[in-house]
Amino acid sequence: MADMLSSMFNRYTPITSFCPSLSGIEKHVIKWLCETVGYSNTTDSGGILVSGGSTANFMSVLCSRHIKLKEPENYHKGLVYCSDQTHHSFLRGCYLGGIPKKNIRLLSTSIQSNFDIDFIELERQIAKDIESNAGMPFLLVCNVGTTNTGKIERVEEYIRIAKKYDLWLHADGCYGCCFTLLNDYKLKYFQHMGEFDSIAVDPHKGFFIGYGLGAFLIKKWKDEWTTFSFRTDDIAYYPSSSEHTDNLLSDKLLSDMFDMGIENSKDYKALKLWLPLQIVGVKTFQNYLEEKLSLSDYLLEKLKKIEHLEVISNSLTITNFRYFNSKGSSMEELNKINKELLLNFNSNGKVVISQTYLRDNGCETLMYVCRICILCVRTHQEQIDELIKNIRASVEFITKKYFL
Ligand SMILES: Cc1ncc(COP(=O)(O)O)c(C=O)c1O
Repeated sequence: MADMLSSMFNRYTPITSFCPSLSGIEKHVIKWLCETVGYSNTTDSGGILVSGGSTANFMSVLCSRHIKLKEPENYHKGLVYCSDQTHHSFLRGCYLGGIPKKNIRLLSTSIQSNFDIDFIELERQIAKDIESNAGMPFLLVCNVGTTNTGKIERVEEYIRIAKKYDLWLHADGCYGCCFTLLNDYKLKYFQHMGEFDSIAVDPHKGFFIGYGLGAFLIKKWKDEWTTFSFRTDDIAYYPSSSEHTDNLLSDKLLSDMFDMGIENSKDYKALKLWLPLQIVGVKTFQNYLEEKLSLSDYLLEKLKKIEHLEVISNSLTITNFRYFNSKGSSMEELNKINKELLLNFNSNGKVVISQTYLRDNGCETLMYVCRICILCVRTHQEQIDELIKNIRASVEFITKKYFL
């Protein structure tokens, strides 16, 4: 409905003074998101609505390189630090932002480390890079809810290290930051989000909004403005909506969104979130999140009881498992068996699950696991029961085929 209304209005909103009402709603939505994820200083913080997390992650690279590396001549020297659980969109963003692949320091994680990086190793790597003049360390990423396992990384450690080495600290909270709507999660995981220089969050994930709504949020909106605003005397431009203030940067409310990102004309996204907030309210979002979390707990308990099924991880609403048989199968053999299990499962035509690879320490070959992420607004108890029934059937199929 929001998309339909936006298309019907079909208003040009990147310049505030051309459409103050819709532009105002957009800024209100951004302010709400900033407050929700933990930027308590809503005067300084800001951001922009984008099509999804990939763009938001890309924008973090563009802002951080502009603020920390300063001159374009330095971009290829920029060094980035993140865990090997980082979403590929961020790595692509680095590459598109002129950071060579060899400059990305991927720190390894494993099932045994509970998907935490080794922070001593991270500091050692940064210090070594500085000492050997390998480049310019500038950007550190903390995954606040990874795609693979739902892991919320150790935020406070990242904050400490970013401060110590003066790095831009970005949070990929595309999936995980939505859980900040729940008070007990906010207290446990999201207390320090205000310390991040930028945050990517996807309302089209955990806020159950239709696809096409991500957000890039930033601690100091002026950093975003100086990165993207390209007003110059050499090129004709629209007068800024805040020009009468004599200071382009003096009033965020009068700023123009085309100064805050990559695009100019674009679809109007704010209604997608603003309307549900007005119509059903935040409580409905919270209820859905709580439902998905308790379905995830329910699933975990059921999976634990299935013979030959090993739960590898369970965090937020993501659960990974694999078929396991103690009859001495190697990792390669088990991976093959688990691929077959997934194929068998997904051919049921009713419920589809995904897969990923995780590191099992001491084993060169990565572990193939089946992955379930419960985040669809239409997934309820009935679908989970169907899922469990089908998993049982596929596990039996594998046992009969290989182990009886
Ligand atoms: C943690 C994380 N970051 C970034 C993205 C990319 O988001 P999008 O698909 O909205 O571009 C995803 C997508 O699944 C994700 O899980």
